[in-house]
Order: sequence, then structure tokens, then C-alpha cells
Amino acid sequence: MQLDAIDLVNHSKLSEVWPQVNFPFLLAPMVGLSHVALREMVRDYLPVGARTIWPTEMLNSRRLPHQRVGETPETKISLRDSDLVPQILGNNESFINESINRLHSLNIAGVDINMGCPVAKALKHNYGVALMGDPKYAWSVVAMAKRATSLPVTVKLRVGHEKDQKYFDEFCQGLVEAGASVLCLHPRTAEQKRKGNADWTQIAHLKRKVKVPVIGNGDVQVWQDAIRMLEETGCDGVMIGRALTARPWIFWQLGEYLGFPPPIGREGEKAPQGPAEEAKEFGRAIIKFVDYCFENFEPSIAQRKIKFYLKVANPWLNFGHYLCKQLNKCHEPEEYRKVCGDFFIKDGLLLAAFTNLTY
Ligand SMILES: Cc1cc2nc3c(=O)[nH]c(=O)nc-3n(C[C@H](O)[C@H](O)[C@H](O)COP(=O)(O)O)c2cc1C
Repeated sequence: MQLDAIDLVNHSKLSEVWPQVNFPFLLAPMVGLSHVALREMVRDYLPVGARTIWPTEMLNSRRLPHQRVGETPETKISLRDSDLVPQILGNNESFINESINRLHSLNIAGVDINMGCPVAKALKHNYGVALMGDPKYAWSVVAMAKRATSLPVTVKLRVGHEKDQKYFDEFCQGLVEAGASVLCLHPRTAEQKRKGNADWTQIAHLKRKVKVPVIGNGDVQVWQDAIRMLEETGCDGVMIGRALTARPWIFWQLGEYLGFPPPIGREGEKAPQGPAEEAKEFGRAIIKFVDYCFENFEPSIAQRKIKFYLKVANPWLNFGHYLCKQLNKCHEPEEYRKVCGDFFIKDGLLLAAFTNLTY
């Protein structure tokens, strides 16, 4: 099993699109979460020598042309940020063109188009997953993005409104013909939102159908799931959302499995494994995240981002809701440190435990 997985990583076709990529595991775009502070915290767990591409949260192409790109909380980047593939939401050529022009100033490695967002607002404006109901228009949106950049254009999509295989296959083929260089599939229907299970057989199916690299996404909870997704579907990359917020060290665990050295600053250490070690690391990760939020955002925005982060990440920790309640009362980085210190360690004893399944 081990050799198969390593073989799959070595044969990932992502490097045909981005030659620098040698680590086919990616953070997912998540509104309110995949901002500079989360990327910084997850980057701290990237094994030395590993290179992947990085998302932004979904950026509305109607708003970007009026914003100072690089200065808003959603578009801020750090000195370490490279290989960014920002995600845009939209369906209008002039907005898409102007948005991509502005995003070029972030030294990006590509542009991702959102065809998976199922919220009512996206449906009303006919973008996000709504585009999956209008194939010709969806293909033209890819062509619009292609006209605006010479960089790779990627599409993140779902399995669509209903499970009509022929329709889905033609839809994806059309995206490729319109110029999409990579497809990323979150195999849930629009109606499922994030409920029920992601159907990984659809990732395997898409991989067989299209020539471009396929990134699989959905329901990775622990690092072994990411390896299993590679093996079961043959996909070229695995995108991880919620679990990577709670377990940013998944990148370290995967790197260790594949033979990469530990992350910078963790030389000679093994990646955390098991409920106790992972809980302890979660305490460290929260402090990192808090510091990165205060470094990058105004205090009120930092607090808001921390609150949302904890809401998404805490279910993996036993009594995480209690920790959340205490941390949500904090205002200064020092206060967060004190609460985390008291929660995780008392009289030298580790009090917390991490769990493997939340959804
Ligand atoms: C809080 C939150 C915000 C999200 N925002 C986006 C988004 O902006 N763009 C997008 O394509 N998907 C978005 N998603 C979906 C994720 O990218 C991913 O497809 C989904 O969470 C399944 O992956 P996971 O099981 O690894 O979390 C969001 C998910 C969450 C939990």
C-alpha cells in the first residue's frame, strides 16, 4: 500500500501544470478562513522541500475591481505567500477581466473559478454552482478567464444538481475544451451542501474521463484519508478543508509518510500522532493562528477571524466547545495564550484529547 501511494504522488500530473509542485496536497478555499493567517499557520507545518499551491477564500469578481487588492483581509498576502491560485466567483467578462488583472499584482500561479458555491446569493446571480446548470455559459466563463490571463485556469465544482452522469461528463469535457487546466471535484450535489458523504467514486470517474489533472476533495479527516483518496480514485491531488484547519499538521504527517524532512523549526521531531499529541499540537496551532491574525488584521477583524476559525476547528477536540467559549471572551494575544495554557496543561499534565471523526 505504501509504495502505491508514493508512486501516485510521483506520478501526479499537477507538476505538468505547475512544475514546482512536488506535494499534491492542498488547502481548500474557504470563505472567512483561507486568508493569510490560516495559510501562514498551515505553512508552518509544510515539510521542508515540499511545494504545493495555495488558495484564497472565494473573491467576488464584482467587488474586486473596486478594492485595493493586497490590502483587504481577503486578499492580503505575506512575504512567504507564493504559488497562490486565488478563487474568483463571477460570470461577467469585464468584472472577471478586471479582477484577474488586479490579482496578477499578487504574483499568482493561476486563477480558480468557483462553480461549487451553493448559497442562495450565488444561485440568484447565476454564479457558483448555478453555472453547472448552464453548461455553455459555464464554458464561456472559463474562456473569459483564459482571455484575461496566460496563467493556468482551474475550476472547482460539485457533482451538480442531480446525478446525471452523461450531463456531468459533458459539462466537465466542455470545461477542459474551454481551457481549464485542472478540475477540482467536491463530489456532493448542490442540494447536499456539506451534508451527507462525498462520493469519491465520482472523483475516480472524472479522473478516467478527462485528460487534465483532477484534484479530489471532501471528507478527509485524517492524513490516512488523503492517501486513501489518492489510492482509491487515482486523482492527482487531494484538497483538504475543514480537517486542515483543525489538524494543520496533516501536511507534516503526510510529508513524514512520503519521506520529506520535518517542517522548519521542528527538526528531529516526529509529526504528532494520537489523541494526546494532537491535542497538544492544537494548543500550539491556536496560538500561532492568533498571532498571525493579530499581525495581519486590525484587532476587531482578528478577533472575528479567530472566532470563526475556532467554530470550524473545535469539534475535533474533546470539550472544544468549552475552550471556544473561554477563548471567545479574549481580546489580546496574551489572554488567548493564558486560556490555552490553562486548558491544555495543568500542573504539567496534558488535559485535552483530539478525536478523529467529526462529520
Ligand atoms: C467555512 C467554509 C467556507 C467555504 N468556502 C468555500 C469557498 O469560498 N469556495 C469553495 O470553492 N469552497 C468553499 N467551501 C467548501 C470547501 O472548499 C470544501 O469543498 C468542503 O469543505 C469539503 O471539503 P472538506 O470535507 O475537506 O472540508 C467552504 C467550506 C467551509 C467549511
